[in-house]
This record gives sequence, structure tokens and C-alpha cells, in this order.
Amino acid sequence: MSTGWSLFVIIVTFGMLAGFTWLVLNTRRIQDPDGGSKLNDHEFDGITELDTPMPDWFSFMFLASIAFAVIYLALYPGLGNFPGLLGWSAADALEQDQRRAEARHGPLFQRYLRTPVEELAEDPQAVRMGQRLFGNYCAQCHGSAAQGAPGFPNLTDGHWSWGGTPAQIRTTLVNGRQAAMPAWGPVLGDDGVADTTEFVLSLAGRDHDADAAERGSVHYQQLCVACHGPEGRGNTALGAGDLTTGVYLYGGSRETIATTLRQGRNGVMPAQRDVLDEARLHILTAYVYGLPKRHGASEPQ
Ligand code: HEC
Ligand code: HEC
Repeated sequence: MSTGWSLFVIIVTFGMLAGFTWLVLNTRRIQDPDGGSKLNDHEFDGITELDTPMPDWFSFMFLASIAFAVIYLALYPGLGNFPGLLGWSAADALEQDQRRAEARHGPLFQRYLRTPVEELAEDPQAVRMGQRLFGNYCAQCHGSAAQGAPGFPNLTDGHWSWGGTPAQIRTTLVNGRQAAMPAWGPVLGDDGVADTTEFVLSLAGRDHDADAAERGSVHYQQLCVACHGPEGRGNTALGAGDLTTGVYLYGGSRETIATTLRQGRNGVMPAQRDVLDEARLHILTAYVYGLPKRHGASEPQ
């Protein structure tokens, strides 16, 4: 705040306080000793107004709050740029809180950091902490129970696009992930998309039109194996999901798969590097790593 504004705020503040004080003291003055029972000219519906001064306790409350305001403004910041005699600041208070929290959690975090992910995932206290962190930082996309939603992976089912080892999960969290599934509509045309969709369904052993899938298989060999592999098992380095499991990130209906092929998909998992410190990243890695097991999913694939 510039000095001019600061002065302006100070003058207005003191002006108001002086004004209120004058008002309270002035209304206490009794000009006429009998004023208490004197009738004013105001009358309405048989109700008349008396010229009674304010009761003492009431004026005193006003004066006390004005005195409180003056003392408060002397001690704490509030008058323009004047920092207050106590030197208190919100930033300092926050820093102190954080230092206190750090002192409380610090040793625990240090111990967690030395514990391998596999072991930490079995520690009930670390899991509870991971669950709280997940609620704060991840649930808005992955759901509070990590169950996911179309486009946002379910982290409890043991199906990983980017891999489920501690190192892979850690990389996902630290650097984020950016999936690039190209749009094939322009290359395949409507018939090509329909045929390839039937082939994708056949990869997971689902109901499909065998003739169409046969034609689609040719497209698949040409265009898709590079990322999804000859058997459709996917590639964790690219985030290309396994097409043989029948579990889909974007939904498994015929229409959804056809839309995926036609338009492509570009899911983004935001990097947490600048959001979370080492200890929290480690706890969350362990929490996510342990999710499928705690949900009774079969071994990660
Ligand atoms: C350049 C690598 C690449 C190629 C080539 C590619 N894909 Fe993909 N595909 C991906 C990636 C990466 C994803 C995950 C997209 C995401 O998570 O947003 C994906 C997702 C998909 C999905 C959605 C899976 C789900 O879980 O919802 C289907 C279906 C699919 N691809 C089929 C195909 C077919 C069929 C072809 C060939 C016509 C093909 N892809 C070619 C990389 C590729
Ligand atoms: C803004 C939304 C968003 C937030 C916040 C977010 N994620 Fe994600 N996450 C995604 C999306 C979208 C993907 C899928 C990317 C793709 O298409 O492959 C993903 C992928 C992942 C994966 C990889 C899953 C797999 O199949 O390999 C993991 C693990 C993960 N997220 C964990 C987390 C954790 C832990 C947090 C909290 C620190 C978090 N995410 C926060 C959107 C988010």
C-alpha cells in the first residue's frame, strides 16, 4: 500500500472512531432532568415516544468496544501500513503452524521414506495417511475410493495402462503421463472403423461379427500393433491399455470403442512433482500400489 493510501485509511479509521465516541457521549447528555418522562411530539396509534437517554450499560458497551478497537489496532496490523506493536503477521503464523506440523510429522515421514513401497503398503497407519492424501489430491479425478470414471482410470482393479510396479507408479505420479492414441477416422473411414471395432471386441473374446473382425484384423496388423502389440496386450511405456482384458478406460460399448478409434484419445495425468514433497509422493505410491490387493483384485497384469 502506498503511503498516501495508508494515511487515508488511518485518518478514516480514527475519524470513524472519534465520530462514534462523540455520538455515544452526546446521546448520554441529559439536558432536562425531567426529560425521562417528557413526551415528544411523536405519537402514532396511541404509542408515544419518550425522550429517555440511553441506559448506562448500553453506552458503556459502545465505549468498551471502541476502546477494544483502539487497543486492537495498536497491537495488530490494521491501520494502513502500521504493522502493530506485537509484530504479528498472518504469514509468520502460517509458517509457525507449518513448522510445528513438520516437527510432529517429520520423524514419521523420515521413517516412511526409508521403508520400501511394498512394505509401506501393508502399514495400516501409512495407508490411512495415504487415503487422506488421496482424498485431497487425487479423488477429484479418480473418485474418493479410487474407483475411477470413464477417462479416469480405476486404480483398484489391478489393470494398469502405465504399469503397476512401485517404480512405474512413482514415475506416473512424479512426472505425470500423457497418452497419445491417434485418431484413425480419416485413415480408416466409417467401414474401416466399424470392422476394426469388431476386431477389438474379438481381442477380449467378446461378442463380435467374425467377418468384420477378419477385415478389421488387417487394419490392426497395419496400424495398431506398433503400440498395442501383436496380441493386443498393450504397452506400459506408451500407456496403451491391454485390449484383451475386457476392461476399458473409456468404456467398452461398441459405440465408445468406435469413437475412440475414430477420434483418438489423449488422457493426461498431471505431474505431482511440484505439488507434493518426497515423503507424500512415497506414501501415495505405496497407497496406490496396495489398492488392488486391498480390493481383492487378482495379481497386477
Ligand atoms: C501411437 C500409439 C498407438 C497406436 C498406433 C494406436 N493406439 Fe490405441 N491407444 C494408444 C494409447 C496411448 C491409448 C490410451 C489413450 C488414453 O489413455 O487416453 C490407446 C487407447 C486405445 C483404446 C481405448 C482403450 C480403453 O481402455 O478405453 C482402444 C480401443 C484402442 N486404443 C485401439 C486402437 C486401435 C484399434 C488402433 C489401430 C487402429 C490403435 N489403438 C492404434 C496408443 C496407440
Ligand atoms: C486432473 C485429474 C487427475 C488428478 C488430479 C489425478 N489424476 Fe491420476 N490420472 C488422470 C488421468 C486422466 C489418467 C489416465 C491417463 C491416461 O489416459 O493414460 C490418470 C492416470 C493415473 C495413474 C495410472 C493408471 C494406470 O492405469 O497406469 C495413476 C497410478 C494415477 N493416475 C494416480 C493418481 C494419484 C495418486 C493422484 C493424486 C496425487 C492422481 N492420479 C491425480 C487424472 C488425474
